[in-house]
Amino acid sequence: MSDKKEKISAIKGMNDILPADAPLWELFENTAESVLKSYGYQKIVTPIVEETGLFARAIGAVTDIVEKEMYSFEDSMNGDKLTLRPEGTAGVVRAVIEHNLAYDGPKRVWYKGPMFRHERPQRGRYRQFFQFGAEAIGFSGPDIDAELIMLCRRLWDDLGLDEIRLELNSIGNADERQRHRADLIAYFEANIDVLDAEAKRRLHANPLRILDTKNPAMQDLVNAAPQLLSYLGEESLAHFEGLKKILDANNVQYTVNPRLVRGLDYYNRTVFEWVTDALGAQGTVCAGGRYDPLIETFGGKPTPGIGFAMGMERLIELMKAQGEPAAPSQCDVYMVHQGQEAQMKAFILAERIRDAGLDVVLHCATPAGAGSFKSQMKKADGSGAAFAVIIGEDEVANDVVAVKSLRGEVQGGAGDGAQQQASVPFTEAVDYLVDQIVGAHDHDHDHEHVHYHP
Ligand code: HAM
Repeated sequence: MSDKKEKISAIKGMNDILPADAPLWELFENTAESVLKSYGYQKIVTPIVEETGLFARAIGAVTDIVEKEMYSFEDSMNGDKLTLRPEGTAGVVRAVIEHNLAYDGPKRVWYKGPMFRHERPQRGRYRQFFQFGAEAIGFSGPDIDAELIMLCRRLWDDLGLDEIRLELNSIGNADERQRHRADLIAYFEANIDVLDAEAKRRLHANPLRILDTKNPAMQDLVNAAPQLLSYLGEESLAHFEGLKKILDANNVQYTVNPRLVRGLDYYNRTVFEWVTDALGAQGTVCAGGRYDPLIETFGGKPTPGIGFAMGMERLIELMKAQGEPAAPSQCDVYMVHQGQEAQMKAFILAERIRDAGLDVVLHCATPAGAGSFKSQMKKADGSGAAFAVIIGEDEVANDVVAVKSLRGEVQGGAGDGAQQQASVPFTEAVDYLVDQIVGAHDHDHDHEHVHYHP
């Protein structure tokens, strides 16, 4: 072993979420969960690792994800072929079939968690990223499509995000795509000189994906290509029209983008993406669509499905770009103490204050020592706490604690109004703090109190 201590870093494209960003993530997750709850969606958690075959079959063999982006490995214990999930729908569908979840009627579920794709990392594109997704299993009409889209709109509104637009398309059913596909291949073959290497490779395997190309030299060609929308039969058209009607009636703005085809093979009929221009190239913050044939493909009884997934990193970045909310405080109360006996009392009091539902940070020693009174007070100020509770030798001797307001006057303080610090008997300290903090909250609804949870 060499003496040199090598620095270990995170794997490329896999990010740490640091405490400074945690409040934003929490805000996003709490808001999303409450929006989903308000539409009757229930949480589902599936494993991060699944059999490789699940993804290959669900997402499609000739897709970017399955061809080149999956983290697949062999279980060294038994040789099983496993993959870190690149997305959430396949696992949810597997769970629905395995546990017969849709047997007593349709189900609305949501999930969140890390997904893994071996992509070239860049802004907004990572190898481990978090998705927040929802799936509605067992509903066939355009009403559920509209519900999922409107649920997203409500989330953007609740988060104050207004630079997200909706793109919508219908990719019909397998027969309709088959007829379109034949014409599309003929069209591209007639223009083979314009195709790049990637497009030529996909020409016969997955020509629809050529429409998705970002290559500027091919834009004119794909713009003039046969459009799938004009191959839709009566039922697919009626479904699409039905969806648009509900969206129109609810003032949901959208653009029909006939080139929106999505990169996963399980889709049929409705597909949609929520896109922003505020994040550069990776502007799709949420994407989804219908996958009616998928459950049957896996041996389940024919059951339609539709869902979406949001890229959480992209949405957090958008929240940042639109103005970060003030950092919430770390705690309600910071406990400052000097001397061994005071420390013992501080410990006991901190537990009692927590019993009462308040958040407390107790000053603890570092390698530099326990810290002077002054340095502890500095920490108390930095914590964003509303109050410092101070226990020194005098307080121990008199069986009291000093309570210092760190954000202004003490509510109901002495007549002259300017009371910043009070001496409170040890046994009354908990009631006093609850009264000050919860009381202040009751009196003043603008007062941002995020910690008290009785
Ligand atoms: P997807 O379009 O592959 O769809 O991913 C959904 C969203 O995840 C994207 O719009 C993007 O915001 C985010 N995302 C994807 N890849 C990355 C990445 N490498 N780095 C950061 N964010 C990323 C699905 O995954 C489908 N399962 C959605 C769905 C659910 N369809 C029906 N139900």
